[in-house]
Amino acid sequence: MPVTTYVFDAYGTLFDVAAAAREAAAEPGHDALAASWPALAQHWRLKQLQYTWLRAITDSHCDFWQVTQDGLDWALEATGLDGDPALRQRLLDLYWELSCYPEVPAMLRALKDAGMATAILSNGSPAMLAGAVQSAGIGDLLDDVLSVESVGIFKPDARVYDLVQGRFGGTRQDVLFVSSNGWDAAGAAGYGFRTAWVNRAAEPIDRLPWQPDTVLADLTPIPELAQA
Ligand code: LAC
Repeated sequence: MPVTTYVFDAYGTLFDVAAAAREAAAEPGHDALAASWPALAQHWRLKQLQYTWLRAITDSHCDFWQVTQDGLDWALEATGLDGDPALRQRLLDLYWELSCYPEVPAMLRALKDAGMATAILSNGSPAMLAGAVQSAGIGDLLDDVLSVESVGIFKPDARVYDLVQGRFGGTRQDVLFVSSNGWDAAGAAGYGFRTAWVNRAAEPIDRLPWQPDTVLADLTPIPELAQA
């Protein structure tokens, strides 16, 4: 059975989450960030994700904007940058207009030209996702943007992945779920989707009971998978 529905994680997969720290570091007046932005970006991302998992397993949901701010506050303190409220605000503002990876528009266009359904399935709140989709200019290449906020729990809870069939119908094997987050690709594989893990950083594979069907260095080959 060919895949008919291509579903993408948002943050880290379509949108470059390191861009906020990298771009702020290049701005005048942010000299302290110039040396430490890679560490700040890594701490920010890891804490943000840890908070989603902890809130999911303790039934303490809040929206992704809250964990994004909480993760940033931890990261700013860890890197000694917590005394600059204007920097904090600038980083948060940039998170609403993250760049997408350069291959994203052409990749989505090729899927649409091949008659495929395309969507985002993300922990992001609807408002955050609308901001990122608009600033990346990819809204007309997506059939839908699905947010965990409609079920009130973060990935990898199965209720999140259920949103795809609720919107597009079909079976779990009609879906290729694409994520740069190894844990998200693993969770979606365990759920029963076909999965592609985008491993831009050549990281080791996660030691979990579920494995992605495909491992890619970036998103460029996705339309070829649609034709295979
Ligand atoms: C998302 C996070 C996990 O977009 O990257 O869902």
